[in-house]
Amino acid sequence: MIPENTGPAAVIVLAAGAGTRMKSRTPKILHEIGGRSMVGHALLAARSIEPRQLAIVVRHERDLVAGHVAELDPSAAIVDQDEVPGTGRAVEVALQALDTKEELTGTVVVTYGDVPLLSGGLLAELVATHEREANAVTVLTAVLEDATGYGRILRGEDGTVTGIREHKDSTVAERLIREVNSGIYAFDAAVLREALGKVTTDNAQGEKYLTDVLGLAREAGGRVAAVVTADRWQVEGANDRVQLAALGAELNRRTVEAWMRAGVTVVDPSTTWIDSSVTLDEDVRLLPNTQLHGTTSVARDAVVGPDTTLTDVEVGEGATVIRTHGSGSVIGPRAAVGPFTYLRPGTVLGEKGKIGAFYETKNVTIGRGSKLSHLGYAGDAEIGEDTNIGCGNITANYDGEKKHRTVIGSGVRTGSNTVFVAPVTVGDGAYSGAGAVIRKDVPAGALALSIAAQRNTEGWVPANRPGSRSAELAQAAINNSSSTPASTEEGK
Ligand code: UD1
Ligand code: CA
Repeated sequence: MIPENTGPAAVIVLAAGAGTRMKSRTPKILHEIGGRSMVGHALLAARSIEPRQLAIVVRHERDLVAGHVAELDPSAAIVDQDEVPGTGRAVEVALQALDTKEELTGTVVVTYGDVPLLSGGLLAELVATHEREANAVTVLTAVLEDATGYGRILRGEDGTVTGIREHKDSTVAERLIREVNSGIYAFDAAVLREALGKVTTDNAQGEKYLTDVLGLAREAGGRVAAVVTADRWQVEGANDRVQLAALGAELNRRTVEAWMRAGVTVVDPSTTWIDSSVTLDEDVRLLPNTQLHGTTSVARDAVVGPDTTLTDVEVGEGATVIRTHGSGSVIGPRAAVGPFTYLRPGTVLGEKGKIGAFYETKNVTIGRGSKLSHLGYAGDAEIGEDTNIGCGNITANYDGEKKHRTVIGSGVRTGSNTVFVAPVTVGDGAYSGAGAVIRKDVPAGALALSIAAQRNTEGWVPANRPGSRSAELAQAAINNSSSTPASTEEGK
């Protein structure tokens, strides 16, 4: 019977290791690059080759890792490694777990949870070579300048792969070999099961080595071969934070390059950071120092940056977003945001709307064409269409205990420094005067004024601030105007 799914029988992701060099309370594989945990990258690559089953082996910080995996990939089988150490044991327990329904047949792929740049494409190539050549084991290898620490690939005189020697078990001559084991393999399930039963812990580290399977497979008459990749990044693991940063930078370089090839202008790739989960349309322009995170999406002809960080923000077609820090927001088509604007979650700016300099917004829906151009705060509010919110307007939404809503209609014009004391509603086409404190609802078309008439107390400064520079200048001005004959004597 040919199964519908053309992928391998299973992928086993190894993730039981401790990762002590990270020096972190967070398990190593939960550290992120490109906005996704290392194990998240590993699971995506594994899923992309459509295995019939996917298992991940855990032990160190088991509950944290298992919880994270269950969120990312609920159908992945979580397998606990026991106290027997080693990659061989890890694969053995996974195979036993996967075999419970029926014994696996066909190709079993093994990968690591801490090799985040491995692509589904390279995994697919490994599987294709393995199956085309009808190998018992196919190992992914790379040739490194410095192979220290890695298992070395042993080859016979004719070049065939004969085995893998762990660094700690190697001879001086073997340490000169620069072709290394990536730790990523395709196995024939039956060969793997059979060989793992024979692997012992008789080695320098007292572990069950998965690498011993290669020699055992050959002894059993199987063909062992290698796929050599020229792309060392794809087989590199992160053991400490220095390697994590290097892998993160390389992943970003690849992500940015892919978007440029897809039609996005990136003025300065080295200062532009794009998470793996971000989506961009053709003819988007990203200016220097722009960081796009999470589910952020940017539509055609929009310009983002410079100096802008957006997390989970939807940017509409032709919008501009300058020097802005935003999250959980929607910026409508041809809308304008920035510079120096702080968009907090729940901000929804309509088509051709504007949120200008030194504005903070949160939980606010702003209708088409409405503008909040300068200096203010809008939170827990709803603003209609074609409304102009004057400079320095504030929604006073918090009474110290509860948050309240401000509802402002369409075609409204508010004076500078208007304060809306929520809950309050302003009708369509209403105006407010400068400095108004709106405590009561304003009917449609009304002008709201709340400030008392201005009263000037003449001579207050010279009388109350004697000797000050202000008093001195005020007195000079007063003397000057009273000694002008035209305006005083003759005017009487
Ligand atoms: C392993 C390989 C080595 C290869 C190197 C590539 C063996 C014996 N050696 O060495 O040939 O060059 O990877 O990085 O396989 N893990 C478990 N359970 C364990 C031990 C490890 O799940 O008991 C997982 C780890 O979480 C990690 C991976 O397996 O993801 C590799 O473990 P690590 O200890 O880094 O293996 P190395 O000794 O470096
Ligand atoms: Ca390692």
